[in-house]
Amino acid sequence: MIVVLNYGSQFAHLIARRVRDLGVRAEILPGDASIAAIQKLNPAGIILSGGPKSVLEKGAPLPDKGVFTLGVPVLGICYGHQAMAHMLGGKVTLGKEREFGKETIKVTSKKGVLKGLAASEVVWFSHGDQATKLPKGFKPTASTSTCRYAGFIDEKRHFYGIQFHPEVTHTKKGKKILENFVFDIVRAKKDWKISKVGEKIIEDVTAEVGKDHVLVGISGGVDSLVAATLIHRAIGNQLHAVFVDTGMLRKGEVEQVSTYLRKHGFKGLHVVDASRTFLTRLKGVTDPEQKRRIIGHTFVEVFEKAIEEELSDFPIKYLAQGTIYPDRIESAATGKQASKIKSHHNLTLPERFGLKVLEPIKDLYKDEVRRVGLTLELPKELIWRHPFPGPGLAIRIVGEVTPERLSILREADAVYIEELKKAGEYEKIWQAFAALLPLKVVGVMGDARTYEYVLALRAVDSVDGMSADWHKMPPELMERISSAIVGKVRGVNRILYDVTQKPPATIEYE
Ligand code: XMP
Repeated sequence: MIVVLNYGSQFAHLIARRVRDLGVRAEILPGDASIAAIQKLNPAGIILSGGPKSVLEKGAPLPDKGVFTLGVPVLGICYGHQAMAHMLGGKVTLGKEREFGKETIKVTSKKGVLKGLAASEVVWFSHGDQATKLPKGFKPTASTSTCRYAGFIDEKRHFYGIQFHPEVTHTKKGKKILENFVFDIVRAKKDWKISKVGEKIIEDVTAEVGKDHVLVGISGGVDSLVAATLIHRAIGNQLHAVFVDTGMLRKGEVEQVSTYLRKHGFKGLHVVDASRTFLTRLKGVTDPEQKRRIIGHTFVEVFEKAIEEELSDFPIKYLAQGTIYPDRIESAATGKQASKIKSHHNLTLPERFGLKVLEPIKDLYKDEVRRVGLTLELPKELIWRHPFPGPGLAIRIVGEVTPERLSILREADAVYIEELKKAGEYEKIWQAFAALLPLKVVGVMGDARTYEYVLALRAVDSVDGMSADWHKMPPELMERISSAIVGKVRGVNRILYDVTQKPPATIEYE
């Protein structure tokens, strides 16, 4: 396996995903992880990721020195490349703000990770600090007009540095570079196969849980569904599932998921319709964070009540959660959770009920979760469903949530998604949804003047939701969607398409 040391979360994730895509296990550790923590994973190779800091900054995270005496190949990327030069006796010079862009490198020595590349290659380059003197034993392998050591190598110790990012698709031969490292240099075995991953999880859950009973919360999303299915395959009727209908879910979601689960032998599924409670508590509330808090607390309360009322007869020892890899990986740069987006789902339940936590898919990325789901033969429609936030439609209605607004939004969103699916556009998009703006404007329908809500349509391309670009939707499709929504959904007379990126905007409206 390969250990990726993380100096700025998103880069590290992308590297780990690429390595796994090559069929080799990759795990992320914080950039300043101790050598003991690294050795525990017994890596065959180490990659130092890129990151937003400067190695010259005080307190900048650096790898444990032991990384360079472990005797395994090390590849430094961007910040990692500089860290390597800096720590091994070379020199790094402070640059301006870090910027990224396409650049052509001259490959001066086709060795190591640059084996098989052409004399010049297009790469995604980071302009900022650069190595200006190489450590002893190192030789340059690539340069640009402004960067003398865009690549370097220590052939004897198997250390490789590149100033650019092989993990992003803009670097044309990025895959080849990583393949060179993983297979040619590290000689890692291809044993990360998604069908095996599913089987292994089922085996592990069976062994861990034994005769105990497990409780899982179903949210309608892919993660909890795949987690629940894996556990069900492992322990069958020892699994109990609670699906809280918050009233803030997408159209047909509860029916679709619960019908599927029941059809596939989930005997212990409890669907709790708590939509009234949620709506009542949200009445008059307009502050987004307040909405989130109310929904989070109410969710826990409803969930607890369900356990007490319906499940107290069972010897439940575990609470299963659909936590995935990016949810729990710490960003070395900040020392904080890389992603807190699911915080309201990290219930306090385990402590209150003395339950152990079971997280069967905690090592997987979203696309891997989906692929495991497909090997379990879950319906494609459920697997490819876009991510959906815990607070649901409540944070897609700007301002107060009312039954009328919810109903308009739910219908409009369903029409939007249906049109995207019909056009074959849905699977090209990371996340698409409609949002209701608390704003009424004038329109005309037939001969009559209308005065109705404005609906914003959002569709974004993203890898992990942390940053996003607006999806370049074909104009004919936008027109079709707009006519379909205004034609079918009462209460909306104007459709806007959102063309802001994240950052500065967020994906959701609240
Ligand atoms: P933002 O709006 O922060 O969204 O750009 C990034 C991703 O996170 C999801 N999201 C949430 N998920 N609870 C969740 O479970 C939340 O409160 C929440 N807020 C945003 C959002 O749908 C997107 O995928």
